[in-house]
Amino acid sequence: MQHRARAVAHSNIALAKYWGKRDVKINLPAVGSISLTLDGLHTATEVRFSESENDDRVWEGDRSADAAFTGRVSRFLDLIRQRAKTDQRASVRTTNNFPTGAGLASSASGFAALTLASCHALGLRLDRAELSALARQGSGSAARSIFGGFVEWRRGELPDGSDSHAVPIADRDHWDLRMAIAVTSEQKKAASSTAGMELTRQRSPYYSAWVERSENTLHAMRDAIAARDFTEVGELSEASALAMHAVMISCNLLYWNAATVALLHAVAEFRRGGLECYATIDAGPQVKVLCQPSDLSTLAGKLQDVPGVLRVLQAAPGPDARVESTP
Ligand code: PMV
Repeated sequence: MQHRARAVAHSNIALAKYWGKRDVKINLPAVGSISLTLDGLHTATEVRFSESENDDRVWEGDRSADAAFTGRVSRFLDLIRQRAKTDQRASVRTTNNFPTGAGLASSASGFAALTLASCHALGLRLDRAELSALARQGSGSAARSIFGGFVEWRRGELPDGSDSHAVPIADRDHWDLRMAIAVTSEQKKAASSTAGMELTRQRSPYYSAWVERSENTLHAMRDAIAARDFTEVGELSEASALAMHAVMISCNLLYWNAATVALLHAVAEFRRGGLECYATIDAGPQVKVLCQPSDLSTLAGKLQDVPGVLRVLQAAPGPDARVESTP
C-alpha cells in the first residue's frame, strides 16, 4: 500500500535574523527571529511512502539528488517515521521555482513542504506548532515557512525544543510590503549555514554581543510590524542583516561578492534620492530589498541596472504552507 501527498510551502526572508544555534543536533536557535513569507518563491514536494522500497530516493526536479542531500532528507524522514511508527521508505520529488542553495531560503520552503507532505502521507495529525517544531529539525528557518505573512520563530527555553517553533504574528493581509530580490549568483553557497553558524559561535569575538542584542531587535520589530511603520521595519531589518554579516566577517566568513557590495551602495543611494527601500542579505550573495508596493517596479528596474545583477525577482507577502492534493 502507498501513502502519498503533495505540499507547497513558500520561502521566507528574515527581517530579524537567526544566526547561531544553542543545540546543533535538534536545531535550537541562540536567538529568536522574525520573517516575512514570500508568495513568489515556493517549493512543491511530493512524498510517497511504500512498503516495497528498500531505500529513500530523492529527486530535485528531474535530477536524482546527490548523496549528501538524500542523506539529509533521509535522516529527517527518520524523525517522521519514528512518530508515525513505520519504517516505510519514501520517494521524494521536490521542485523549486527559484535557485536552490544560494541564499534564497530554499531549505526553508523545502523542509516545510517535506514536513507537511510526509506527515499528511502517513496520517500524522499534528497542529501547526508541532509541524513547525518538526520542520525546524530539517532546517531552522523552515520552522517559519509553515506559516504565511509575518512570522516569529521563538527561541524557546526547553532542552527538548518543544517550545522552539514559529507563531504567526500578523497575516499576509495585515500589510502589503514588497521585496525585490537581486540575484547575483546562481551557484550553491560555499559554506552551509550550519557550518557558518558554528564557526561564528566558536571564533567571532562579537558573537555574544550579537546574541544579547537580538532581544531588543525582536521587541522593536514586533512593534514596528504591528504599527505598519515602514521606516522602522526597514531600518531594523537592514541593521539586523548587517550585524549578522559583521559577526560572520569577523571570522573570515564572507558570503558576499562584488555585486552584493555594489547593491548595498545602490540601495543607500536610492534612499538618498527619495526611493525608500532597505536591504537584507542571508547566507549568500543575493540582496533582498524591502519596499512599498508603489515603488516595486521602479526599484526592480534600478536594481537590474546594478553591475553584476543577473536578474531581479519580485515578491509580496505569501500564504501558509498547504497540502495540495491527497490521492
Ligand atoms: O535555516 P538555515 O539553517 O539555513 O539558516 C538560515 C539563516 C539565515 O538565512 C542567514 C537567517 C534567517 O533567519 O533566515
